[in-house]
Amino acid sequence: MSAAKISVAKKAIDYIEKKLSKETILGIGTGSTVNFFIEELDPYKNLFRGAVSSSDASSEILKKKNIEVFSLNDVNQIDFYIDGADEVSPSNFLIKGGGGAHTREKIVAAASQEFVCIVDKTKLVERLGAFPLPIEVIPEARSSVARKIVALGGKPIYRDGFITDQGNQIIDVKEMDISEPEALEILLNNMPGVVDNGIFAFNKPNVVLVSD
Ligand code: A5P
Repeated sequence: MSAAKISVAKKAIDYIEKKLSKETILGIGTGSTVNFFIEELDPYKNLFRGAVSSSDASSEILKKKNIEVFSLNDVNQIDFYIDGADEVSPSNFLIKGGGGAHTREKIVAAASQEFVCIVDKTKLVERLGAFPLPIEVIPEARSSVARKIVALGGKPIYRDGFITDQGNQIIDVKEMDISEPEALEILLNNMPGVVDNGIFAFNKPNVVLVSD
């Protein structure tokens, strides 16, 4: 599995390398595939200005590499957002949030010129939903949101002991019908107390790079 993740991380470097400039800000996602990407990025770190990160974990790794990390509030533009995914549909709709970082990932993806998604082959699916759908909730709303999920036919499971970077909780939803990703993304995000869910239908990648 590491070999596959390294191979797609190298593909992402090939994809962006010639487009880097001293002004370039990269958006950096979260997860094991991105961690390999950051390793591959290290030799190129003097060719771009810095990064906006989607999680405290990725920020730590970037800072250790002496790659400057900016707040999204302090940059005008992000040229490329590079991130993994938990599932990728044939239309490039995604499920993300296995690492619980999907809220900030979606914010950074939405602020970027181009979203380059990097996955190993196992992430490609015919239909979204075998991977439990993560939903970030305000802690006080967890049970009320869970009841609404049950009414929709999903099986919510509290990710016990996990707190997001924003101080919230995660519900992972099994057996959800995600045949209409756009409609479901809106429906879930309209529930009071939901911060964001892991469907990326409106912020899907421009490019999906897949391991050999
Ligand atoms: C983090 O919250 C997720 O959205 C990750 O992007 C996703 O889980 C992919 O992670 P891996 O690269 O570790 O599979």
